[in-house]
Amino acid sequence: MTIDIGVPMTKAPRLIAIANQKGGVGKTTTVINLATALAAVRKRVLVIDLDPQGNASTGLGLGQGDRRLNAYHVLIGSVPLGEAVTATAIPGLDLVPADVDLSGAEIELAGVDDRLHRLKAALDGELDDYDYVLMDCPPALGLLTVNAFIAAHAVLVPLECEFFALEGVSHLVRTIERIKKSHNPNLDIQGIVLTKFDRRNNLSDEVANDVRAHFGDKVYETVIPRNVRVAEAPSHGKPVLLYDKGCAGSQAYIHLAGEVLRRERSLAA
Ligand SMILES: Nc1ncnc2c1ncn2[C@@H]1O[C@H](COP(=O)(O)OP(=O)(O)OP(=O)(O)O)[C@@H](O)[C@H]1O
Ligand SMILES: [Mg+2]
Repeated sequence: MTIDIGVPMTKAPRLIAIANQKGGVGKTTTVINLATALAAVRKRVLVIDLDPQGNASTGLGLGQGDRRLNAYHVLIGSVPLGEAVTATAIPGLDLVPADVDLSGAEIELAGVDDRLHRLKAALDGELDDYDYVLMDCPPALGLLTVNAFIAAHAVLVPLECEFFALEGVSHLVRTIERIKKSHNPNLDIQGIVLTKFDRRNNLSDEVANDVRAHFGDKVYETVIPRNVRVAEAPSHGKPVLLYDKGCAGSQAYIHLAGEVLRRERSLAA
């Protein structure tokens, strides 16, 4: 049986890198919960954990012992992508995990000619099973993030609503522009999402206004609130959407997924 949902059942997957070289801004939280929300509306989603910290893998419930084949092996080229893919407890959501090995990739690939294209080469032709591939980048603009930018169609940037939010963003934008010019002409910022918004704090409002003044409609209307349930969920190995679906953080991520899908649809039109 085929179900007409208005889009072809087989289409090229969209690859989105979630990146900001600033640490702790909500990249991993956004990857985990956006992926879960997309899977909940029957999208087939692959998360690639590109951070040696492995937080996305932990947050999706994968123990250290289950990461024997991981993003490191994919980048080094020692296994094909499929061997490093593991299912998660969430139907429709798969994961290429990471562990601390990945921190060695930068050094091991230092002298290798195609080191920036490793991930793209490993993914090419291997993603037919997926609608969306979300890549969780580490807090740096090094080899791992550049590999993600070269493989990606778009970058989603989480920005934390705090005083230094915009610091470093121009460097990030310049890096994306450079990769676009030299390696990946279609690369663009898919959107910017404001995270950890605290409505009791005037500074959050000021930062949100500044970011909107600067980036206009690149910024999603959905704002992710600072919410203790969001912070608790990873220690239970669950997306907050499963840990406490009704909390403000979960609801915000559901709204964000809706906006991402609408934006993706208008890009495809
Ligand atoms: N909306 C939120 N409300 C409360 N806590 C949050 C929220 N989003 C993220 N956190 C917490 O803030 C910390 C940093 O979040 P996260 O790991 O998603 O950031 P990151 O940008 O991936 O960090 P890194 O740069 O280290 O990879 C985590 O402890 C996370 O649980
Ligand atoms: Mg992270």
